Amino acid sequence: MATQPEIRGIGHSVERKEDARLIRGKGNFVDDVKLPGMLHLEVLRSPFAHARIRSIDTSAAAALPGVVAVVTGELMAEHGLAWMPTLSGDTQAVLATDKVRFQGQEVAAVVAEDPYTAKDALELIAVDYEPLPALTSPQAALASDAPVIRDDKEGQDSNHIYHWESGDREATERAFGDADRVVSLDTHYPRCHPAPLECCGCVADVNPATGKATIYMTSQAPHAHRTLFAMVAGLPEHQIRIISPDIGGGFGNKVPIYPGYVVATAASLLLGKPVKWAEDRSGNLISTGFARDYHMHGELALKGDRMVALRVKMQSDNGAFFADAQPSKLRAGLFGIVTGSYDIPAAHVEADGAYTNKAPGGVAYRCSFRVTEASYLIERLVQTAAYEVGVDPAEFRLRNFIAPEQFPYRSATGFDYDSGDYAAAMQLALDKLGYEDLRREQAEAREQGRLLGIGLASFTEVVGAGKGKDYDIVGLRMFDSAELRVHPTGKAVLKLGVRHQGQGHETTFAQIVAEELGIPPEDVDVQEGDTDHTPYGLGTYASRSTPTAGAATAVISRKLRDKARELAAHKLEAAPEDLEWEPGRFFVKGSPDRGATIQELSLAAYSDLPDGMEPGLEGVHYYDPPNMTYPFGTYAVVVELDRGTGAWKVLRVVAVDDCGVRINPMIVEGQIMGGLTEGYGIAAMELITFDEEGNCIGSNFMDYLLPTSWETPKFELDQTVTPSPHHPLGAKGVGESATVGSPAAYVNAVIDALAHAGVRNIEMPLTSDKVWAALAEAGLAE
Ligand code: CDP
Repeated sequence: MATQPEIRGIGHSVERKEDARLIRGKGNFVDDVKLPGMLHLEVLRSPFAHARIRSIDTSAAAALPGVVAVVTGELMAEHGLAWMPTLSGDTQAVLATDKVRFQGQEVAAVVAEDPYTAKDALELIAVDYEPLPALTSPQAALASDAPVIRDDKEGQDSNHIYHWESGDREATERAFGDADRVVSLDTHYPRCHPAPLECCGCVADVNPATGKATIYMTSQAPHAHRTLFAMVAGLPEHQIRIISPDIGGGFGNKVPIYPGYVVATAASLLLGKPVKWAEDRSGNLISTGFARDYHMHGELALKGDRMVALRVKMQSDNGAFFADAQPSKLRAGLFGIVTGSYDIPAAHVEADGAYTNKAPGGVAYRCSFRVTEASYLIERLVQTAAYEVGVDPAEFRLRNFIAPEQFPYRSATGFDYDSGDYAAAMQLALDKLGYEDLRREQAEAREQGRLLGIGLASFTEVVGAGKGKDYDIVGLRMFDSAELRVHPTGKAVLKLGVRHQGQGHETTFAQIVAEELGIPPEDVDVQEGDTDHTPYGLGTYASRSTPTAGAATAVISRKLRDKARELAAHKLEAAPEDLEWEPGRFFVKGSPDRGATIQELSLAAYSDLPDGMEPGLEGVHYYDPPNMTYPFGTYAVVVELDRGTGAWKVLRVVAVDDCGVRINPMIVEGQIMGGLTEGYGIAAMELITFDEEGNCIGSNFMDYLLPTSWETPKFELDQTVTPSPHHPLGAKGVGESATVGSPAAYVNAVIDALAHAGVRNIEMPLTSDKVWAALAEAGLAE
């Protein structure tokens, strides 16, 4: 149900307010910030993946005209800042002092009057390295004779980081013992990179007179970052102001704190001048929060055509510092959601983390803390199982889905799914695709020597982290906040604890206020990203903004509406309970002409109050969600393989999403299309890999391929709507659904083209050489 066209609350495809400045080049990004006397910082990175540092000679660099300072780990150590804590409770070198542990690690920095001089000076720093053997896989790192990467940590005598389990081991073993058949899959979800359009950067401005540090920063979580800065640097928190101006994409990459931020802030503190650090593309790709890199072994126990148990063992490659962005209690993030959309009575997951000589990261790249890897594994396993049982993959899913009447549903690994109707979403996708006809077409094509494949993924997501009791980041509970202030003329300012990076919050959150208070979106200014002027929140990632800050906005708007009712009662000389609300206006029941608009009541809040009422119309609400939200959907992909080259072409992509109530359908569709594109990139071409010496291959956009508009398939979208029962608007998050759900659909489609020849797996990215090798092995290559 949409509000009237003139109010345009929920359900209206309101044009994005922020685009007026963004598409005209009038945005204000970190690199646009220019302060008087500002200096520039550039970072020297290690050419080795693993090497001891014998000495660093900075004299030539320091002597270069225009250079103001050269910063080393030793200097940082003098201020207690050579190391910093990570999001997973480990420590990470800010500037290396003892060893370098991955190629691209930060070794030193130069501060100069301009960025070019700073870059030139980097070449004059002489570092004497003693190379050490590099370990680039968890298997190699966990071998008993492997050199210890983290010899800086007391008591660390191997490269093992953690062991984590979830589910019921005994019940799972019993079910496997009773099974008719066991189906397994070994697969690696490769390391990939969020690769936002804008790299990371900051301008740190510590005022020598007041001591106040103002840091303009590419931050998806400015409040949490302020707290971390206070804890790490020992600065009083009220003396730190983090401003996240416009952000050119984040996708999880801008959640961690990076050495560049810390060194720039320290340099500004020491030099008494603003210092800018603007990362370049290679720096971003080789040193900042990568994603995935999970080696997974999954087994499904089957009784007839029913899945009765799931067993998973996996190793995660965490790089040189355990810096995964995830709630403290969940060492492998939300991988526990691995039973997906299926009613699997027993499950057990074991995860082990390993240090390797790669960049740290493990960020939630458009995903809720490892749910992507989980979703990929189960959707690939389900298709494998369907082939082995001899049931069509769509039919096999239908027989195993959690049924609508089972919600709320507790999964075997302890997640409480809020609502869902998986069969309805899949049926809609199949109908839209013309599934049965396509299967006939596929069989006919095969007879003519053409290879068509149809891949499905019926994903379930878990988004909206908190609730605070169970979910935290570095101990900070994952609630979020909204502060709403309505001015006397009925115009409003909404301030939020989250921080968008292009998702359209300035429009959608204004629509929530419009829905609840009747103030049109253009009269609501949405502000985010300045810690001095917004209420505390945990930031934007993991599709949490709508489930948390969206809910907070609805609740605070309703509270103000309650006050407006009192004001209306006073103004209209009626009892509050005799008033009726229609969006934007209270009127006396039975007398629609006797009413007062929200704008009139806003003025009344400052001018015509009942005795004893506090003036003003404003408030703040901190929302701790009772549960996560569980969006879901079915993605269906049709491909054709070239038997001569292994290239595969996407013929169709049908995507049915259910994110509960959609606030802005157009923005939701934009989010889904972006996610489907990223999913395609991961499935088809994106790869950061390493040679034996730990050299990073994939450090620029010539090697690390992203889909352009040329490769991006056409998407056919549809929806079902199953509201979240616990969210005040019935909305679920959606931002990451398609990145999470779609890689399995693309891969399943390619495998489906080859399944009749016994092919069950090709590792992502499915580049044509790998597909051609599979074709050749199956005797299908031309
Ligand atoms: O946290 P993030 O903004 O990345 O993710 P989200 O909460 O899923 O929202 C992404 C965008 O889609 C925002 O502009 C939302 O307000 C919008 N959205 C919507 O209009 N309706 C939904 N049910 C979910 C999100």
